[in-house]
Amino acid sequence: MFVFVLILLSIAIIVIKWYLARIYASLYWCWDNGNEEKRIFIDTDDVSFPQSFLWGTASASYQCEGPGDRAPTKSNWSEWEPQHIKRGQQCGIAVDHYHRYKEDIELMSTLGCNAYRFSLAWDKIEPIEGQYDQDVLGHYHDVLRELHRQSIVPMITFHHFVHPLWFEERSSFLNSTNSSAFIRFSVDMFKEFQDECHLWCTINEPEVYVSGGYFTGIFPPGRKSQPNEASLVLQNLLQAHVDIYDGIKSIARQPDQHSIGIVKDIFQFDPYHPLNPLDVYISRLLDYAMNGCILDFFRTGSFKWTMPGSTPRTFTNSRAPHTNDFIGLNYYSHFLVRFNPFKPSSFEIVHRQDDSGPSLMTDMAYPLYPEGLYRACVRLKDELPRVPIYITENGIADRCDDRRHLFLRRYLYALSRAINEAGCDVRGYFYWSLTDNFEWAEGYDMKFGLYDVNLQTQERTLRDGAKYFQQVIQKHRAKYQKKIT
Ligand code: FCB
Repeated sequence: MFVFVLILLSIAIIVIKWYLARIYASLYWCWDNGNEEKRIFIDTDDVSFPQSFLWGTASASYQCEGPGDRAPTKSNWSEWEPQHIKRGQQCGIAVDHYHRYKEDIELMSTLGCNAYRFSLAWDKIEPIEGQYDQDVLGHYHDVLRELHRQSIVPMITFHHFVHPLWFEERSSFLNSTNSSAFIRFSVDMFKEFQDECHLWCTINEPEVYVSGGYFTGIFPPGRKSQPNEASLVLQNLLQAHVDIYDGIKSIARQPDQHSIGIVKDIFQFDPYHPLNPLDVYISRLLDYAMNGCILDFFRTGSFKWTMPGSTPRTFTNSRAPHTNDFIGLNYYSHFLVRFNPFKPSSFEIVHRQDDSGPSLMTDMAYPLYPEGLYRACVRLKDELPRVPIYITENGIADRCDDRRHLFLRRYLYALSRAINEAGCDVRGYFYWSLTDNFEWAEGYDMKFGLYDVNLQTQERTLRDGAKYFQQVIQKHRAKYQKKIT
C-alpha cells in the first residue's frame, strides 16, 4: 500500500511539474547555443513581411528635438532633470532634430524607410495654457511636408511622457479633471494635422509612465511606492485615451481614413523558477498590474487593478473595447522574477546566465529576448483579436555596436514568425531609434541609434550593426517592386 501511494505521489508530482513548466516557463528557441545535441538551426534569413508593411524608425520630441528656435520651454521633464539623470546629465539640444529634421528624414530615406513615428511637443506647442504657438505648429507642418516629399508615412504620438509645466503643476493625470486639457490638446492637434497624417498614437506606454513616476520614482514627479496614486493615474490615462478616440472620430472629416491606437509596452514578467509557486505568483501579479489589466480593459471595458497593500481599483467604460483601430506594441525584453523575502518588495529581478536561455545582455538592464516579441504579438492577437498591430518601438542600447546586428536579425526573425506562423496581423515595424538620443534617466549613456551621433559636431554615422536593418528593408521592398514591374 505504502509503495503504491509513493508511486502515485511521484506520478502526481511529475505531472504537476510538467504542467507548471509548460504553462509558466518562458519560451526559448534554440538559436545556436553551442550545445550540439540541442542545436536546432534557425535560419534568420528566412523572413517575409506583408507587401504593404511599414518600415520606419520611432522617436519622441523631448529625446531628440532640442529646444528649437525658442528658449527651452518648461515641462515636467525640464524641471526634473537637474540631479535626477545619471552623472548629472541634461538633455540640452539633444540631437537637434528640430533643426535637422530634413537631414534626418533624408537618412530615413537612405535606409529605405517608408514610415516615421514621432511625437508632438505639447510643451512647445502650448507653453501657456490655451495659447498655441503658431510657429511651432508651422514647424510640424514642415516636417510632415518633408515626410510626404520623401514618401514616408507619418505616425503622430500626442503624449510621450512629457507635458507642459503648467499641466504638471496641477498634478497632471493624478487629477481626473485635468485630463480635459490633454483631450482638448489632442483633438485640436488632430484638427490641425488631419490632412497630413492618418496614423495616431494617443499615449505612449501608460504603465511605464506610471511606474516611473509613482513606483520607482525615476521619472517625474518622482513619487516612490505609491500604488494608489499609480492606479489612479493609470485610470485617468486610459479614460483619456477613450475620450480622445471618440473626440477625434466625431470631428474627423473622414473618420474611416484615420487609425488611432494606444501604445502598449509589453515587458513580460516571467518566473525565474517556473516550478516555484512564489516566483510564479509574484510574476503573475506584476504581469497583470503592468500588462494584463490594460489589455483586459480594452477587451472587456472593465479595469481591475490590485496590488498587495493597496486599495483595489475597478472601473468600467463600455466604449473602451471600440477605441483601438490598431495597437502599438513597444517590445524590448522580459524580466525574470524571483521571490526574495529579504528584499523590501519580497522579490528581485534576476538574469539567467546559463544555456537554457539568452545570457546576452543589452546595455539596459535586460537581455536580448526575441522570443518575447513573438509571444507579445501572439498575446495581443489572442487578447485583442482583430486589432491590427504596429511594432511602434523595438531597439537595442549597444554602445559597442557588437550586438545590434544579432539583435535585429533575431527580433525581425521572431516578428516574421509571429506573422507567418502564428498569423498575427502586424502592419509595420518602427526601430527605436534613427539616432542616439536622450534616454530619460539614463541620459546619453544608452546608444539606441541606428546612427551614432557625435554630440559636439552633430555628425551622424550609420553603425555597422544597423546595416542589416537597411538590407532587410531594401530586400523586402525590392521583392515587391519586382512583382509590380
Ligand atoms: C521606451 C520609451 C522610449 C525610449 C525607449 C528606449 O520605453 O517609450 O521613449 O526611451 O524605451
